[in-house]
Amino acid sequence: MVHDPALAIRNVTKRFGDFTAVDGLTLDVQVGTCLGLLGPNGAGKTTLMRMITGQTGLNGGSISVMNFDVTSQSRQARSILGVCPQQDNMDDQQTARENLALWAALCRVPRSRRKQVVADALETAQLADRSHERVTNLSGGMRRRLLLGRAFINSPKLVLLDEPTVGLDPQVRSDLWLMIDRVRRSGVTVVMSTHYIEEAERLADDIAIVNHGRIIARGTPQELRERHAGLEAVEYFGPTDVLDEIAAKAANAGLKSRRAGLSISVLGVEKVSSELLASLGRHSRRPTNLEDVFVLLTGEALDG
Ligand SMILES: Nc1ncnc2c1ncn2[C@@H]1O[C@H](COP(=O)(O)OP(=O)(O)OP(=O)(O)O)[C@@H](O)[C@H]1O
Ligand SMILES: [Mg+2]
Repeated sequence: MVHDPALAIRNVTKRFGDFTAVDGLTLDVQVGTCLGLLGPNGAGKTTLMRMITGQTGLNGGSISVMNFDVTSQSRQARSILGVCPQQDNMDDQQTARENLALWAALCRVPRSRRKQVVADALETAQLADRSHERVTNLSGGMRRRLLLGRAFINSPKLVLLDEPTVGLDPQVRSDLWLMIDRVRRSGVTVVMSTHYIEEAERLADDIAIVNHGRIIARGTPQELRERHAGLEAVEYFGPTDVLDEIAAKAANAGLKSRRAGLSISVLGVEKVSSELLASLGRHSRRPTNLEDVFVLLTGEALDG
C-alpha cells in the first residue's frame, strides 16, 4: 500500500526582496522516515522549515503536512508538528520547567496532560534535576537539550530539527541520536538539517542536498555515494603544488578528486589499477562518504 507522504512540498518559492532563498523546490518525505537536509550556509534549509511551520509565508507553490495545507489549514498542520529551531527562542528569565509548560500550552496540550508531558520532556533533555533553574543559567548544551526535548511535547507526527546537536559534547550528541532514532522507529517522521556528516550518515534514511534554494541530489547515503563518488577513495597528503599535480593527473585519468586542507582525495578508484594510484604517490585507501558527495556537488566542506 502506498501512503500519502508525511510532508509534501510542491514547487515552493520564497523571495526576500530581489533575492530568491527557496527556488521552486519540490520534496516528499514518507511517513516514518528520517530525511537529512544537507546544504551550505545560506542554502535555504531554515527558510524551508519556517515555511513548513507557517512562521513565514510562501511566494509560490504549496506545502502540506499529513495532507493539511500549511497555509489554509495552518492550525491543524501546526498541531501535529514539533520543532527544534536553529535559533533558540526560549525565555531566558523563566525556568526550564516554566518554558516547557508555556510551550505545552501554546501547543494546545490538554491541561490534564501538561504536567506529565513537561516531566517527560525534562527527562528527555536529561534536565530533571535542573528543572527550576532559569534558562539563562543553563549551559549552551543544556539549552540545546531543552530545546530538543521541547520539540516532542505535543507528541508530533512530524518533527523538524534544525541543526539539533550544534554545540553538544560527543556523549550528549550520541544520546540525542539514540533519542531521535527511537522517535523515528515509533513512526514519527523526522526532517533534520545538519552540518555533521556522521549525524546524517547514522540517522537519515534519505538525504536531500540543498544548494541555492533547490534540491540538487536526493537518495539514501549509499545511493548518493555510489552515484556521485564511487565506492572507494584514496587520499594523498603533501604540499599544495604536489596536490595540484595529483589533481591534474587524476583528471587526465578521468577521475574526480576533492581537496580538504593538506590532502586530496581521488574518488571512485575501485576499478583503477593500483599501479596508477601508486604512480601519484603514497596514499591510503578508504570508503567514500557523504562528505565526498557534498563537496563534489556544492564545492563546500561540512563540519565534523
Ligand atoms: N528574513 C530574511 N530576510 C532577508 N533574507 C533572509 C531572511 N531569512 C533568510 N534570508 C536569506 O535567505 C538565505 C537562506 O537562509 P537560510 O537561513 O534558510 O539558510 P540555511 O540553509 O538555513 O543556512 P545555515 O546552514 O547557515 O543555517 C540566506 O541568504 C539568508 O540571508
Ligand atoms: Mg539554517
